[in-house]
Amino acid sequence: MVNMNAAHTKYISDLGLTPNMGEVIEMMASAPAAETTQVKFECRDVEVFYSGKRALRGVNMDVPDSGVTALIGPSGCGKSTFLRVFNRMNDTIPNARVTGQILMDGQDIYSKDIDPVLLRARVGMVFQKPNPFPKSIYDNVAYGPRIHGLAPQKKDLDNIVERSLVRAGLWDEVKDRLKEPGTSLSGGQQQRLVIARAIAVSPEVILMDEPASALDPIATARLEELIDELKEKYCILIVTHSMAQAARVSQKTAFFHLGDLVEYDDTQTIFTNPKDQRTQDYITGRTG
Ligand SMILES: Nc1ncnc2c1ncn2[C@@H]1O[C@H](COP(=O)(O)OP(=O)(O)OP(=O)(O)O)[C@@H](O)[C@H]1O
Ligand SMILES: [Mg+2]
Repeated sequence: MVNMNAAHTKYISDLGLTPNMGEVIEMMASAPAAETTQVKFECRDVEVFYSGKRALRGVNMDVPDSGVTALIGPSGCGKSTFLRVFNRMNDTIPNARVTGQILMDGQDIYSKDIDPVLLRARVGMVFQKPNPFPKSIYDNVAYGPRIHGLAPQKKDLDNIVERSLVRAGLWDEVKDRLKEPGTSLSGGQQQRLVIARAIAVSPEVILMDEPASALDPIATARLEELIDELKEKYCILIVTHSMAQAARVSQKTAFFHLGDLVEYDDTQTIFTNPKDQRTQDYITGRTG
């Protein structure tokens, strides 16, 4: 276990990383193999309150263990709040309280036995604004594996860094400038860098909160291609304000409105044959 002060521990946990990767690997090894289960998360009557005020009401939803699930709905409807329940990031908000049950591979992630910091290594998160560390491109990706002792030797670390950057679709653009600062990259490259950083610790799930909102159309297209590739290996949940993006990248879509999960179905059904008037109004641009 690496010795860290509280601020640093929080910093790491905010990134979805963990101070002890050994325990994570053990936990992953004891979890059922991904192929044996169709459902990654089961949400039962999930509610979230901020200072006692309910922001999310009685959400029941199964998230499949592969593919992309999109969360859509008007601003303030609870998408980010809901996304944060999957890696207990709401725990880091002092006035937030979560009730109900969220099972990951059948295990209650809010049970006392679950260390939220370890959970966040299994369930990584990518934020709206790319947030590379003030470090080199290499060190950004190596950061997690290093502090968790994932790579005993330099060549192991080199491998993880290269593999993560390849998988994030950034390797070719940065392989000759790994020592340059992460912040020297373009916005779209930075977003792929933080994705590489997230996958460097081998998560099972990636949560993305409006990951393309700061990107131009070309960078957005690249990111969508990347999501398409990553979905073969990871369970991905993505919040987006773009209907077109939800339609392009996701297989399942959940529509939220004023804290309610209004409708959840195959993306195609949500966009072509929604059952609820509120969904229809939103996707046709009449509300929101
Ligand atoms: N830290 C917080 N403290 C108090 N209330 C909060 C907090 N975070 C969110 N809320 C409230 O919870 C509700 C849901 O917010 P949330 O951020 O989940 O919405 P959202 O759907 O992600 O919106 P947007 O599309 O604008 O990002 C809103 O009414 C919001 O004001
Ligand atoms: Mg939000």
